Amino acid sequence: MTINPEKSIPAFYAGQSILLTGATGFLGKVFVEKVLRSCPDVSEIFMLMRPRKGLSVNQRLENSLDLPLYEKLRNERPESFKKLIPISGDAKEKGLGLSASDRQMLIERVTIVVHGAASVRFNNSLQFAIFTNTRSTRDVCILAQSMKNLIALVYVSTAFAHINEPLIEEKPYVPIANWQEMIDIAEKLDEHTLNIFTAKCLGYAPNTYIFSKNLSEGIIHDYSSSLPCAIIRPSIVTPALKEPIPGWLDNIYGPIGLFIGGGKGLIRVACCTKSVNQNAVPVDIVIKAILVTAWKLGLTKFTPNSTLFILNCTNQKHLTYQDGIKLLFSIIKEVPLEKTVWIPNTILTDNFAVFYVLTILLHILPAVLIDLFLSVSGRRPMLLGLMRKLYVANHAVSYFSFHEWNYSEINRLNLMLLISPDDWDAFSFNYGFSDISDYCKVYWFVTILETTIFIVILWIIYNYISAS
Ligand SMILES: NC(=O)c1ccc[n+]([C@@H]2O[C@H](COP(=O)([O-])OP(=O)(O)OC[C@H]3O[C@@H](n4cnc5c(N)ncnc54)[C@H](OP(=O)(O)O)[C@@H]3O)[C@@H](O)[C@H]2O)c1
Repeated sequence: MTINPEKSIPAFYAGQSILLTGATGFLGKVFVEKVLRSCPDVSEIFMLMRPRKGLSVNQRLENSLDLPLYEKLRNERPESFKKLIPISGDAKEKGLGLSASDRQMLIERVTIVVHGAASVRFNNSLQFAIFTNTRSTRDVCILAQSMKNLIALVYVSTAFAHINEPLIEEKPYVPIANWQEMIDIAEKLDEHTLNIFTAKCLGYAPNTYIFSKNLSEGIIHDYSSSLPCAIIRPSIVTPALKEPIPGWLDNIYGPIGLFIGGGKGLIRVACCTKSVNQNAVPVDIVIKAILVTAWKLGLTKFTPNSTLFILNCTNQKHLTYQDGIKLLFSIIKEVPLEKTVWIPNTILTDNFAVFYVLTILLHILPAVLIDLFLSVSGRRPMLLGLMRKLYVANHAVSYFSFHEWNYSEINRLNLMLLISPDDWDAFSFNYGFSDISDYCKVYWFVTILETTIFIVILWIIYNYISAS
C-alpha cells in the first residue's frame, strides 16, 4: 500500500534526491543524520563539500561519519551511509567550483536543494563574504534552474538579515543594495580596494556576514518567480533539544564559547544590555523546520505566480542575558566545569566606559601578571592572547546583545498545522522549551564532556610531540 505523501513526511521523501550545501557544518551534519534516520527511503543526498587540510571530500565524509552523532545509524542501519554522495566544490568559486560531469549528474538527479553553506564569520572581507555567501546563492539558483526534476529549494538565511526592522515579518524585504551590482563590483575590484568602501556599502548591516545574507535573500526572492523557493531564518542556533542526542553541538563558537569562558571564570565582564532577550533556537528544531518546509513546497504546484515562502525560525520563549547568566551560574554550582581559573562571575554592563575600565582591571591586568609568571617559570605565555580573542568575540556579537527584534510566526504556526499527528513526534518543530533550565543543564553537561575530551586529545598530542 502506498502512503499519501501529503499525510506522511517520510513518504514524501521516499525516492527524493537531495543536494545539500554546508553538509560538514553544525546544521549540515544534523540534517544528514535526521534525513537518513527519519526518512529512510530517501534516494540519495549529494553533499557539496570542499577538500580541506589535505583531505579529499571522500576522506572528509568518512571522518565525519565516525562522529558520535551517527552512532545510532551506524549500529542500526550502516547501509544508509551509502546514500551519501560527496561532491567536490567550493562555494567561494564562480559556478560553485563543480566539475562538468558532477554538474550534469546534479541536473539529472536532484529534486530538492538545501543551501546552507556559508562563512559565518562576522569579520570576513566584503569580497570574501560576497563570493562565499552571496554569489554562491546566485549560482545555486542558476544550477537549480537547469535541474530537470526540482520541486523545492530551501535557503538557510538568518533571523538577523533585516535588523533595521523592529518587527520582522515572514515576507521578503528590499535588500540593502542591488545584489547583481555588488557581485559585479566584488569581481572587478581587488580585495583591498573593496575594503576601503566596505563601511559605505554595508548600510545598516553591522558586518559583512549580515550584509551578504541580506543580499542573498534578495537573490532568492528574484529567482522565486522561476523556482519553487523558500527561506528559513533561524536565530542563534544552539545545541540539540532532543535529536539526535540532547545537548549535541560540534563547536564552541558564539554564545557557547562565551558560556565556556564565563563558566571557567575567564570572562569577568561582558558588554550587553541585561534586559535584552537572547533569541536562540535548538539545531534539531531548525532541521525539522527545513524538512517540513521542503515537504510543503514539494507538494505545492509551482506557478510563476507562486509566492516565496518565508519562515522565521526563532524562539518565542525569551530569556534575558541577565537571567541567562544567572541560570548558567546556578547550573555551574551543580555541575562545575573542570580547571576553572577563577570562581565564575561575569559582570554585565551596557556602559562602554565601565566595560573598558573593567576589561583592563579584570581581564588585561590579571592576564599580563599570569603571562609574566608563565614566562618566568619557562612556560609559554598565553592568557593575554586569549583575552584579546575574547575581546574581539565580545565586540563582534555586541550589536546583537544591545538590540532585540520581534518576529511574526504566522507561517510557522500554519505550517505546523499541516503536519499529520503520526509525524508530530519526528517532525513537529514546536520549540517553546518546556523547561529551559533542564535544556541548559543537558547542554552544559555535553559542553563539559566535549571540552574535556578536546583538552585530553590536545594533551595526548602535546605529550606525543614532546616525546618524539
Ligand atoms: N549557527 C547559527 O547560529 C546560525 C544562525 C542563523 C543562520 N545560520 C545559517 O545556517 C547555515 C549553516 O550554518 P552553520 O552554523 O552550520 O555553520 P558552520 O558550522 O560554520 O558550517 C558552514 C558550512 O558551510 C560550508 N562552507 C563554508 N564555506 C564554504 C565554501 N567556500 N565552499 C563549500 N562549503 C563551504 C562549511 O564547509 P567546511 O567544513 O569546508 O568549512 C560548512 O559545511 C549558514 O548559512 C548560516 O548563515 C546559522
